[in-house]
Amino acid sequence: MSAVLRRCCAPFAMLVALVLSTAALAAPSTRATPTESGRERLSLDRGWLFHLGDIVAPEVKGHGASYGYGKAGFAWGPAGTTYDDGDWRALSLPHDWAVEGPFDAQENLAQGYRPRGVGWYRRYLRIEPQERGRQFELQFDAIATHATVWVNGILVHRNWSGYNASNINITPYLRYGDEMNTIAVRADAVPMEGWWYEGAGIYRHAWLVKRAPLHIVTDGLHATPRLGQQGQWSIPVAVTLKNGGKAAASALVEVTLRDPSGALVASRRSKVQVPVLAQAEARLLLAIGKPELWSLEHPQLYQVSARVIQNGAAVDEVSLKTGLREMRFDAARGAFLNGQHVKLQGVSIHQDHAGVGVAVPDAIWEYRLRRLKELGANAIRFTHGAPAAEVLDMADRMGFLVMDENRNFNISPDYLQQLEWLVRRDRHHPSVVLWSLFNEEPMQSTEAGYEMTRTMAAAVKTLDATRPVTAAMNGGFFAPYSVAHALDVVGANYQVDAYDKFHQQFPKVPFTSSEDTSAFMTRGVYTTDQRTNVFASYDDDYASWGNSHRDAWEAIARRPFVAGGFVWTGFDYRGEPTPNQWPAVNSVFGIMDLNGFAKNAYYIHQVQWIKEQPLVHIAPHWNWAGREGSDIRVMVMSNGERVALLLNGQKLGEQQVDPYRMNYFMVPYAAGKLEAIAYRGGRPVARTSVETTGPAVRIELVPDREALRGDGRDAMPVTVRAVDAQGRAVPLADAEVHFAVTGAGLSIGHGNGDPTSHEDEKGPTRRLFNGLAQLIVQSFDSSSGELLVEACADGLAPARLVLPVRAVATPPTQPASEAPFNTVNYWRISPSSSRRPDPNLLLADFDMNTWEYGDPPMLHDYQDAAHAGYRIFRASFTPRKKLADGSGVLHFLRLAGRAEIWLDGQLIGRKDDFAPAPLRVVLPAGAGTRQLNVLIEGRQGQTSGIESAVRIEPAQH
Ligand code: GAL
Repeated sequence: MSAVLRRCCAPFAMLVALVLSTAALAAPSTRATPTESGRERLSLDRGWLFHLGDIVAPEVKGHGASYGYGKAGFAWGPAGTTYDDGDWRALSLPHDWAVEGPFDAQENLAQGYRPRGVGWYRRYLRIEPQERGRQFELQFDAIATHATVWVNGILVHRNWSGYNASNINITPYLRYGDEMNTIAVRADAVPMEGWWYEGAGIYRHAWLVKRAPLHIVTDGLHATPRLGQQGQWSIPVAVTLKNGGKAAASALVEVTLRDPSGALVASRRSKVQVPVLAQAEARLLLAIGKPELWSLEHPQLYQVSARVIQNGAAVDEVSLKTGLREMRFDAARGAFLNGQHVKLQGVSIHQDHAGVGVAVPDAIWEYRLRRLKELGANAIRFTHGAPAAEVLDMADRMGFLVMDENRNFNISPDYLQQLEWLVRRDRHHPSVVLWSLFNEEPMQSTEAGYEMTRTMAAAVKTLDATRPVTAAMNGGFFAPYSVAHALDVVGANYQVDAYDKFHQQFPKVPFTSSEDTSAFMTRGVYTTDQRTNVFASYDDDYASWGNSHRDAWEAIARRPFVAGGFVWTGFDYRGEPTPNQWPAVNSVFGIMDLNGFAKNAYYIHQVQWIKEQPLVHIAPHWNWAGREGSDIRVMVMSNGERVALLLNGQKLGEQQVDPYRMNYFMVPYAAGKLEAIAYRGGRPVARTSVETTGPAVRIELVPDREALRGDGRDAMPVTVRAVDAQGRAVPLADAEVHFAVTGAGLSIGHGNGDPTSHEDEKGPTRRLFNGLAQLIVQSFDSSSGELLVEACADGLAPARLVLPVRAVATPPTQPASEAPFNTVNYWRISPSSSRRPDPNLLLADFDMNTWEYGDPPMLHDYQDAAHAGYRIFRASFTPRKKLADGSGVLHFLRLAGRAEIWLDGQLIGRKDDFAPAPLRVVLPAGAGTRQLNVLIEGRQGQTSGIESAVRIEPAQH
């Protein structure tokens, strides 16, 4: 504990009562599928090493170096196997290095004034010898932004988008047993795909999938329910298999369907033949007798499973969740879900959260979506790229309608594959109701833009003909080559003036607002002052191309042909601090701030979007000391019929509720209690009040849930606030709070929603902004017991929160492997000679052919005496810095034959026996590149050579 913390936190006299929400703990993701077939999907989030900044390859000169440069397996530096990463930082994924960095006025405003740059990641992987024969796929769910991946020094993958997954078959390159595998990733976040904060690094999960030679490919289970002409439901299932084995395979594919209660409702089998290293598809039809529909209120999910059966045994199996729902966009009347009209009450959201940047734990996503549900939103547009798969699982479970958006408007093969990946991955989600091809493309009214859109729409339809294709256009609707002609549903960003004109000109084309509003509001602020970057909560400030929250919704709500809207935005995000710049670093468009704390826009939309449950809210707070007798503008928001306002029990007035404009009262300020009552049918149905508080006396910590799961993944926002002597939250409190988190977890960041805050998001302190801050805590791996949060601030009584951490099963994980050694690779092998050669004899730099190339095992059989004899095995290596002082050993895991070990021309060890055995030789001190010559003598009838890996390792290893 720091001195400051000790000073202001001690003594902790009081145990603050836990204020608990009733939210259920997150359900486990449907994507982890360890099955009886042996398929494993193991988390690869642990065990990474990280280096911030690029490591530039030395210039290649000379014949030998140039010759080797482009060869498979010879990647240089940190991309290769032998690199010294001993001083890299150990960390876990998801990771966003941009959020760790400082704010810098010289950096790009769009990216929140955060340096991005380049980062390197490395991880070691040990694969047991008995796993040989299985197929291995390395999966990165997203890397910002350009990613290059090497396995064992071989370039295995490139991906040029921060919004799609990299699924890489690494089977061919793997080494088994003692030989460690090296994964290296160069993440280049200099290129941008957006004008908002995008983060940097491996910011989503990583996985290692292990499966049988004959297996279902990733995203290879296609099961999208259909509603037939006669009202009957069925699921045409297509299962794509790959045979990675060495012989043609035949198998049975069995698909089963379970209803939301888990009962088996249908099952079919089909035979399939798959040639070697080829793919084949099995198609089966599942009929559903009594459908239980997926809806926003009852998001019922069916499970489709596919098993591959060979010789009576299951060799592979995958499952997914889907839902039966009919979504229709009508050009005159808008959207219909299962025949019922539904107005899209949507929000657009980016993917960063306070404290964690874009490395948002799944549990925090669950919190964010729950906040949207509480807001009354029923639709989400994930702007402007694919969200994490887990987030769409949540949208399915919680009941949202999703516009799933492609990032790059481009039809070159790489980019078209990104779009196809999106559709393949997401087409089973009942929540996904629209595919969006792009956002605001300048080519949207050109012939080329039209052709590109047509091509992309066709690519989508080939993979999923059940959903309409849209795009978020900000113009070009009426141009001769408008891309609108290639869309099923036309999406308009802003352009409210075009709504009616479009509908008149194209009365048969369904239409929605794909983005609207762009209003400015700062949480807890009631007076706009552009100079200090703050915007009042009365909904009077908005971008010149946008509208107030109220106007934007009114334009949508009053027009039946507009299917709905997507408010820009649900949450504030980093970057794009429009209309400001430095020192403002975050946007202020959000209905909620970066923590998910409600701004007044939250209450405006809540009363517009939630119909049944009666609601009433008041703005502003009632702490206006010094303004006694002056008029305060009071905004009352309600979904009742009438509202009355009372100050200290005295009725100030009553008004008919205006559902679009909201209600206003001018109230001469007097301290006390301001109360609003909402009426329906003349009866009070909801009431709320704001009270003048006393000064803050203590800190309070309010956890979002009752407990944490001890799986090292679960995370929870904790609200930090200051309360007065009566326990009332003080709205303008701005104390600097010091945190200490101990026990079964840690703090992973914090925020306060201040769009101009430059505080370190990971450090030990955070100032309250208009009364609030949020601390995010996370459990440790395999933990249980208690997590303790202590918070203190000068002049306030401290708070102490004890969160139970419950033991849960560890998610299936590929163990982290440490490699405090490097391995000697890239050997040259001399021809055999019957006479002992000089082990240090020179081989010309241009001689690529006299000596062989190899890596262990490098063995030779000497059948007859004539060929028995000597070979030189030669390699260069650079020991890790820590071992350059003579504390290392050269460890030959298995050497066969008699051997002499020569280093830089000196004999440093020998093995006098012919029988295979390990050998350890002390590595003499010395930095830089060393040349190793191993002279091995074999004899007739025996195998000799370097049989297993050669490591440079600490003597104690
Ligand atoms: C839109 C754009 C969004 C955001 C917004 C701000 O034009 O699609 O990404 O920039 O403006 O108002």
